[in-house]
Amino acid sequence: MKSSRPGDTGQQQSPGMPALEQVVAAMRQAWGHDLAAFEPGFLLRSLSNRPAFASADAESYSRRLATDRTEADALLRSLQVSFSEFFRNPTAFALLEQHILPDLAGQERVSRGDEIRIWSAGCATGQEVWSLAILLDEMRRALERPIPYRIIGTDIGEADLGFASAGVYSVASVAKVRVGQLEACFSRQLDTYAIVPRLHANVSFSHHDLLDARASAPAASIYGGFDVVFCSNVLLYYRAETQRLILDRLLRSLAPAGYLIVDDTERQAVGRHRGLRALVPAPSVFQKVN
Ligand SMILES: C[S@@+](CC[C@H](N)C(=O)[O-])C[C@H]1O[C@@H](n2cnc3c(N)ncnc32)[C@H](O)[C@@H]1O
Repeated sequence: MKSSRPGDTGQQQSPGMPALEQVVAAMRQAWGHDLAAFEPGFLLRSLSNRPAFASADAESYSRRLATDRTEADALLRSLQVSFSEFFRNPTAFALLEQHILPDLAGQERVSRGDEIRIWSAGCATGQEVWSLAILLDEMRRALERPIPYRIIGTDIGEADLGFASAGVYSVASVAKVRVGQLEACFSRQLDTYAIVPRLHANVSFSHHDLLDARASAPAASIYGGFDVVFCSNVLLYYRAETQRLILDRLLRSLAPAGYLIVDDTERQAVGRHRGLRALVPAPSVFQKVN
């Protein structure tokens, strides 16, 4: 979606064009960003929160967007909601802990040394990735045998990726982490909790844009083939057509019978997609079917 091509639109926006269309056209023509991919209600709410939009008519705001890189960047940043939490979707994490991860760990290929491969797509500040690493580390200690695994977290927010990879969180943000997990997987440093080095060994973070038509899996994964893909609280920001494109790519990145996990609010969009079936009793967890 991103391009660094600066410049003027070279075109006047039509005064009769609805506000959203004028803004979308200006951002596309001036900077090469396709805001039409976003869910219109979310786009309009984000725009309304920009003081420069609220205090001008759509036509003059669109003209400003075409030449003011700072405003264009600020608008783009406001479309990247990066809130996250440890163990955010309790039902999905319970299913992972009690069934999916033990089943994967019990597979013969894993006992031969093949890695369990997990991708957190749109990982923001990394809590989803580290929640998974905590579960796998607990399982490894409980089974008293090595469980080879690799978790790749990706996002388009460079600052968030840096934060995620540092793995240092405030006391408030680890509130949903069990005491035993806190003791085993974090080290306390004054007012923060830092993920222990042991967990970093199996985890990596990199840039990957889910709207990039050239790749259905992050470059760091080489070929995809993921046993589990988390894409949670990402699809809801996009319009139905974009959701379908993203889901097609995620489906391609999954290994046969692999799992796709979204947020409860996104399950209807995924449920309509061919090639995936919802697991009961966790309707936001889907399994790839042929
Ligand atoms: C609300 S956070 C979700 C974090 C985490 N998955 C969770 O559920 O807690 C949404 C994240 O998706 C990322 N995102 C949005 N569009 C994306 C895209 N096209 N490619 C990759 N990441 C994207 C945003 O940058 C943001 O960090």
